[in-house]
Amino acid sequence: MKHLISAADLSLDVTIALLDTTEEMSNVNEREIKKLPTLRGRTVVNLFFEDSTRTRISFELAAKRLSADVIGFTAKGSSVSKGESLKDTAQTLEAMGADAVIVRHHASGAAQNLATAGWISAHVVNAGDGKHEHPTQALLDAFTIRKRLHGAGSTGKNLAGVRVLIVGDVLHSRVARSNLHLLRTLGAHVAVAAPATLLPATPDALVAEHYFDLDEAIAKFKPDAVMMLRVQLERMSASFFPSAQEYSANWGLTRERAVALPATTLIMHPGPMNRGLEISSYAADAPQSTVLDQVRNGISVRMSTLYHLMAGDQQ
Ligand code: NCD
Repeated sequence: MKHLISAADLSLDVTIALLDTTEEMSNVNEREIKKLPTLRGRTVVNLFFEDSTRTRISFELAAKRLSADVIGFTAKGSSVSKGESLKDTAQTLEAMGADAVIVRHHASGAAQNLATAGWISAHVVNAGDGKHEHPTQALLDAFTIRKRLHGAGSTGKNLAGVRVLIVGDVLHSRVARSNLHLLRTLGAHVAVAAPATLLPATPDALVAEHYFDLDEAIAKFKPDAVMMLRVQLERMSASFFPSAQEYSANWGLTRERAVALPATTLIMHPGPMNRGLEISSYAADAPQSTVLDQVRNGISVRMSTLYHLMAGDQQ
């Protein structure tokens, strides 16, 4: 594997291998000295054109824990604000010796472009491209579910029969798209619950199983995990729902809905959360919430990803 652009590109075998290595990396992350020499002398560049907290910091930590040198590049404060293109920016970074570029960009397809346009020869990892994909988020979500369900015996396991309900702003969510691909590859049963305005106008096979009522979805689908999506206000050019209060009442994981869930049903959210909109504080902080597990596992997943992409390179 040279690049990681889309969860749709990952076969079952490769996905299991990535999750199993994540397991090993999470053991490293529990040690007092959280460091492996694997990528010593390599350079990883974080190329972020969109805001990020978790993804950017966890890629940085992941690269550092594998002993790579890391350069953090954010569009704000760089020559991008002077109009420099993605191509020129990437080539400049490669001229400085980047072996891998982690890219987040508002344009769907930006990572794919970077990987295949022939501008650079470095590995490319998609850390979120517009409304398209965010494959390492799907990997960390799958890892989180697998770990909660199988504990220490997770290695080698898929998610056959696990029921995951993805709720909310599916239309604008790269997290949903990557999860729909990856969870299905792992054998999970995935459905979405969203208002009609926040589903693609012509629902494709990806969102074939959908509900237009959250309470009905929970009652009928009986999810093992409820994955709440952030309402992507920055990607909305029009009004997709009447008011925040109405969205929260109809589509939010309110205290009442969270209390009614079985104690074993996982509550997931990729962050950043709009508390009080798509998720109540009660649900976010409930014992079955995996929100902080997801953040923790993000570091291990990204170590695994960098390891699989880079460790075999000729020095
Ligand atoms: C997500 C993203 O940026 O796609 N956040 C993340 O990476 N943890 C989800 C979001 O912004 O809603």
